[in-house]
Amino acid sequence: MKKQILLIDDDRVFLKYLTKQLETAGHTVTTVEDGVSALNVLTGFTPDIIFLDLILPKIDGDKLCRIIRKMEHLRNCHLVVISAVVAEMSSDVSEIGADAFIAKGPFASVMKHVMAAVDESGRLAATPADNKPKQVLGLEHVSPRQMTRELLSRNRHLKAILESMEEGILEIIENMVVYANSAAVGLIGKPLENILAVSPEELFDVDERQRVIDLIDSADSQMVEIGEARPIELNNRQVTVKYMPVEARKARSIILITDITERKRLELQLQHSQKMEAIGTIASGVAHNFRNTLTGILVNSQVIQENYKNDMDLQEIAGRIDTSVKRGAELVERLMQFARKETKKERIVIDLVAVIAETYQIIRKSFDRKIDIQLDIRHSLPVVGDYLGLSQALMNLFTNAGDAMPAGGVLKIDALRNGQAAIVRISDSGEGMDPETRKRCFDPFFTTKEVGKGTGLGLSTTYGIIKSHNGDVAVVSSSPRGSTFEISLPLADSDSDARKKAIIMGAGQAILVIENASDPNTTTSDLLECLGYRSARVMSVIEAMNKYENLRPDVVLIDASELSEDSIIQLRSITDNNPNAKIVALTDSSAMTPEHSDNGLNGIVKGYLQKPIDLSEASLLISEVLAC
Ligand SMILES: Nc1ncnc2c1ncn2[C@@H]1O[C@H](COP(=O)(O)OP(=O)(O)OP(=O)(O)O)[C@@H](O)[C@H]1O
Ligand SMILES: [Mg+2]
Repeated sequence: MKKQILLIDDDRVFLKYLTKQLETAGHTVTTVEDGVSALNVLTGFTPDIIFLDLILPKIDGDKLCRIIRKMEHLRNCHLVVISAVVAEMSSDVSEIGADAFIAKGPFASVMKHVMAAVDESGRLAATPADNKPKQVLGLEHVSPRQMTRELLSRNRHLKAILESMEEGILEIIENMVVYANSAAVGLIGKPLENILAVSPEELFDVDERQRVIDLIDSADSQMVEIGEARPIELNNRQVTVKYMPVEARKARSIILITDITERKRLELQLQHSQKMEAIGTIASGVAHNFRNTLTGILVNSQVIQENYKNDMDLQEIAGRIDTSVKRGAELVERLMQFARKETKKERIVIDLVAVIAETYQIIRKSFDRKIDIQLDIRHSLPVVGDYLGLSQALMNLFTNAGDAMPAGGVLKIDALRNGQAAIVRISDSGEGMDPETRKRCFDPFFTTKEVGKGTGLGLSTTYGIIKSHNGDVAVVSSSPRGSTFEISLPLADSDSDARKKAIIMGAGQAILVIENASDPNTTTSDLLECLGYRSARVMSVIEAMNKYENLRPDVVLIDASELSEDSIIQLRSITDNNPNAKIVALTDSSAMTPEHSDNGLNGIVKGYLQKPIDLSEASLLISEVLAC
């Protein structure tokens, strides 16, 4: 049967010989001498069989095979490699997508295999590509030649170098990619078949293509580069692209792609911390001078108040001056916190969870009811720091989250460990931030709120406080569906047992707290709510007795440090009337516990908790008492 045959080889004598033989046998033969011409011919031509050499000008035979295999209209075309080098590289031959391999030896021997291949092509075309036999024919007449072997090993050596480079390398011939190393394939994120034989700009994101075209156009004989100042986006990475013509009129050129994502990230981080450092220096200078000015105003106002005690109008004016000075002093204090110039505060080991518990309690009361606050705390998080500073840092983030959700939403607070760090993540479902706000939100006095609504010092104060604790705070995400801020602080490496303590959350059980309200520092109810319990508070045991029946609490927690004999008797009456009542005593010292003395509480209470309350211990004891 008459066949359409394409011969691709740069050996003209061999081409002539083969063409004559095939035409004599009645076939139609087209010949080309290099890879690019072959591709040009093949765009509008579907031969039945292609014979090609492996070593070809412009595009190597193996690349050409891969490209041909990808072309839909050549799917059934029989692809046969005729090359001397197949004798030495039989291990690689089956990977390139050819259907048969003929070792180039004496013409007569090759011709025999060529004719056989032509005869077989129709029959084999019906077989799926993977099942076609792929042995090397004609090897018996070819002896491996030392030179080819050496060339091949040198080629492999160069290939190994290119493949191990971190930079992506593309070889371009007549605006078509003919080679891509592994790094380029990885950066582009497409299979090699989809990279070869396309124009280079098509490998980049749509918005970046024009920049690549302009880069190629701008080159004459020198290397040109883009992306250093404004990186090119490629498959979610940031890269620079260098273009190097290696032959006249850009017939052959090289493109180098360098991934600079990580470097750009570090540069931005450095720029940001340098900027914050510089603003900090200015802020502390301003704050210092401003504080002196305020002191002067305050002293004079007090002189007026002292000297004109009977002049009510002047007294009132001086009072207003004092109030303004106080407001100014607060501002100075926040600026100083940002500048981290006042770090003399005592640093002790505190549980970050306790700080969250306290601030949570405040926002729970002050936030709009439409904001659903969700806490996820699993472990105690001991850090070395200043309690008030850290609670203020958190408070600022909570307040911003609240401000971002005027119509309500969800505020999620996650506290967890990550290696040696305590992480607190604060997410809101609010309006989010645009890129400019996100970039500038930690700058002092940066605010998007209406005049008079925000000073723009909230986040900068938080930043200063967290940095002074050797920690970090950052916006980790922000979209129109909300923002997430993350604080990370180094965990205190004091005692390793304390670091492992787990927190067992309650499930809304009711706890009645008997506690003297005159103590302003009591936050027992706050801690319990943070642990997931509902709490009600009464001032005295008598009040608790009266309310017990109505409230039916799951646990009663009593501050036993100031219990009188009378109140112990009243407490006993609760257990007498309610044998299942679960009472836990809060004590000042371990001397109060039953092992040490009969404190009158034995038989009444189910457990003792020592002050100051350790959240993890409290959570464990309450869950045990609830279970018994
Ligand atoms: N959770 C958030 N959601 C959306 N935008 C936020 C959020 N947190 C901060 N921002 C933005 O960052 C800006 C700066 O916040 P920052 O807390 O420093 O100042 P402020 O809240 O405007 O004023 P202040 O805290 O002094 O009352 C805000 O004005 C707001 O634009
Ligand atoms: Mg704020």
